[in-house]
Amino acid sequence: MEWIALQHALLSHLPVATGLLLPWALLASQRPGRGIRPWWTVARYLGWAGILGTLGAFLSGFAKGRVSALPPVQHLLTALFSGSSGADVLLFRHLVLGVASLLVGIAALWAMNRHRKDHESLGFLALVLGLAWCAVLLVAGEGGYRLAHQGPGAPGTKPPVSSTPGASTPSVLWVVRDPDADRPVRALDYASLEPIGPDPVRSQAHGGRWIRAWASPETAAAYRAGEPLPQGAFVVLSSAEDRWGRPGNDPGPLYALELKASGPALTFYWPRVPMNNRREFGGDSRVYWRGSDAHLEACRACHASGMADPAKRSRWRPKRVVPEE
Ligand code: HEC
Repeated sequence: MEWIALQHALLSHLPVATGLLLPWALLASQRPGRGIRPWWTVARYLGWAGILGTLGAFLSGFAKGRVSALPPVQHLLTALFSGSSGADVLLFRHLVLGVASLLVGIAALWAMNRHRKDHESLGFLALVLGLAWCAVLLVAGEGGYRLAHQGPGAPGTKPPVSSTPGASTPSVLWVVRDPDADRPVRALDYASLEPIGPDPVRSQAHGGRWIRAWASPETAAAYRAGEPLPQGAFVVLSSAEDRWGRPGNDPGPLYALELKASGPALTFYWPRVPMNNRREFGGDSRVYWRGSDAHLEACRACHASGMADPAKRSRWRPKRVVPEE
């Protein structure tokens, strides 16, 4: 689902290109007379390419809506009629245009593929429906571009400053400016931290998974030595599920600890919970706990003051090899 959703921006370029190219082929194919057939073919080819692209954009668009948990249609409708926030209206318009582009596109393709006599033009109906389709495609594409690039919360743009008191509250879509809102961005980049120990070790404290610890470079030495960590310290455990006593292929959750000014902050993130483990998480396929999430209460039994008691650590060092005599 996520993979399909990520293709939305890419797939949307094909229908937009169709919107730009098809009008000329349609106009050219309006001339009656012999020798016009190649222009029918061009128009039909662009039509098929366009409808496939529209279908791809349509499906990936819905996947994107699901994955990024966009507000449901009812919410958008109420937003529309209560005359509120720009982003919701933009999104709703994009949704309507997306559906329309598919319907008008099918009609236009039908009109373009009707049987014609050799000397006839492609027909006025094909022209009208085709141009209408192109218009919808271009407007939908432009709206999508604005949603992706110029939304008030998009990178590189300033958040809107509401000057009028009592102005409508900004949309739920754009309020989220916390970079970690969707995923723990820094913890995911754990490979850029310093690895503690060369191999995964099995940690009973963390579900019997195989873990590797990664510490921010300036705190790695203190962490290794089991000394109290300074403020700002950041430690991540990457993990793998156990499989017959070895680290398995399924990536396990990420565990992170950051010593913030406000105290230790724990994070638990498992973007894709394997089927067999979902029951532990109420059936969820994705788990992300952070901050004051009540689920992290269990962690605090051992992490009340941040770092767990170094004496309780699983064995970091690999087995000592006994030198041969
Ligand atoms: C039974 C005690 C226990 C519980 C419960 C526990 N941990 Fe740990 N944690 C440890 C120990 C011990 C270590 C040291 C690494 C190891 O050997 O497992 C550790 C290490 C960590 C580290 C690396 C920093 C450090 O303190 O060494 C993080 C991050 C972490 N745990 C997060 C969590 C999170 C999040 C939870 C809850 C989902 C959790 N832990 C639950 C005992 C526990």
